[in-house]
Amino acid sequence: MCRSIYASLIVLLTMCLMNVLSFASADFESLSNSTNSLPFNHFEEPKSSHIDINILALSFHNVMARNNKNVIFFYNNLIKGVYLTPGQTYVILDKMNGIKAGAMYWDRNCISFLAYDPSAEAGHQKIFWNIKEDGLYHSWDNNSWQKKKSWTFNHC
Ligand SMILES: *[C@@H]1O[C@H](CO)[C@@H](O)[C@H](O)[C@H]1NC(C)=O
Ligand SMILES: *[C@@H]1O[C@H](CO)[C@@H](O)[C@H](O)[C@H]1NC(C)=O
Repeated sequence: MCRSIYASLIVLLTMCLMNVLSFASADFESLSNSTNSLPFNHFEEPKSSHIDINILALSFHNVMARNNKNVIFFYNNLIKGVYLTPGQTYVILDKMNGIKAGAMYWDRNCISFLAYDPSAEAGHQKIFWNIKEDGLYHSWDNNSWQKKKSWTFNHC
């Protein structure tokens, strides 16, 4: 009896929380212009804008098959890494104030790379990275990809 009351309380709390979350995201949608609600679309029309915001948007998409281990990603010497599960996309917004380094660990393999190198990006503010089983791919449009790095196996 007690146990079932406890269980329904949990369900109730969860539903409350879900409502709060959906309200929060609904507010976010209505506050921001619908065409500009995603961080990436925010940078879609730099020419029509008089405000030159030098913000960098870096997207890291783990496109590995589901059965793979998580990739651990360290951005620009941050002490804390983030886990990227297969299928997950992680977006970082940062200032365009120089080189941004990155390191990735996957099982016993690793890659260190420049997540953003102003001298190589030809003024692009949106950089896309796809993480695959054979290495790291770079794109400016999330569509055409160039392989930049392979995993270093077993000695990281
Ligand atoms: C969204 O942006 C467009 C173009 O900048 C503007 O005309 C429109 O009024 C905006 N809508 C809202 C709800 O802010
Ligand atoms: C890039 O493309 C993939 C696959 O089409 C999509 O899932 C992802 O959301 C896109 N990333 C961004 C940041 O738009």
